Amino acid sequence: MTATTLTAPLLLANDMLTGAEWSPAQVKQLLRLTADIKAHPARYAATLRGKFFALIFEKPSLRTRVTFEVGIQSMGGATVFLDHTQAARLGEREAVVDVARNLERWVHGIIARVYDQTVLEELAANARIPVINALSDRFHPCQALADYFTLEEKFGALRGFRLAYVGDGNNVCHSLILLGARLGAHLRIATPANYAPAAEIIADAKRVARETRAKIELLNDPREAVAGAQAVYTDSWTSMGFEAETAVRENVFAPFQVNREMMALAAPDAVFMHCLPAHRGHEVTAEVLDSARSIALDQSENRMYSQKAILETLLGG
Ligand code: CP
Ligand code: NVA
Repeated sequence: MTATTLTAPLLLANDMLTGAEWSPAQVKQLLRLTADIKAHPARYAATLRGKFFALIFEKPSLRTRVTFEVGIQSMGGATVFLDHTQAARLGEREAVVDVARNLERWVHGIIARVYDQTVLEELAANARIPVINALSDRFHPCQALADYFTLEEKFGALRGFRLAYVGDGNNVCHSLILLGARLGAHLRIATPANYAPAAEIIADAKRVARETRAKIELLNDPREAVAGAQAVYTDSWTSMGFEAETAVRENVFAPFQVNREMMALAAPDAVFMHCLPAHRGHEVTAEVLDSARSIALDQSENRMYSQKAILETLLGG
């Protein structure tokens, strides 16, 4: 399939703020486009030629920054990195609305990593150029798209795929739920009682699940979630922005550590997943993270291709 036939029917919303903008068909097409970009990068070597992107990061990043910068340059575009990790947060020096109205005069797209999802929404509401969520307190859609692409590469179609997520009901968990629902996956999410994913995200996923026959089960017992799973996913117990809660979280999440005993409950060919950065000896043991079952680095590699698919869809050609 050519790039044109892959992208043509994909009328995505102008922005990518949550991943819930996408219909089940659109998520599948993004996965197909990701595969095409990975297999034939030369076809997309100039589709962003003459396009400029502002990358605004309020929090640190290794994977997201590098994959966006390299990905955009590999498509002929260019990036400007606005480092807000030390400087004032967006909205402090200058109102978010003014940042949006200025940036749209110079660049073709905004890629932002923020503390507060509402800042992304404000950027999107005030800029007539696409805004892409590079992680917020609520969502990490670029991550989840790469994760499902990685699973599809290894296991084939994801309808009925048994994915266990163990740990904090955080941004990564939310995005896995929203996209997993669109792909018809069977998700078991095990969190401590006070760290469950947000009710409105579960409600959106369950609405979509009626169409895709996805399943979303919320549990408090990690062993029950992992039993028979084809993939076991975890993330840090303390996400960026929640550092003040680290000591409490270390205590509450201790029974949720993914270790050899936990992985032994999963299916014999089950893989281990982590968005990274990982904390060996906390949410996952070094033994599991560094084992042959771990596909964390494949997830990282694929961030590049799935983000290129998002950019190609929103701005390519
Ligand atoms: N997984 C991920 O988004 O990594 P970074 O925080 O390094 O970008
Ligand atoms: N949940 C983590 C993901 C980091 C990529 C965080 O928000 O810090």
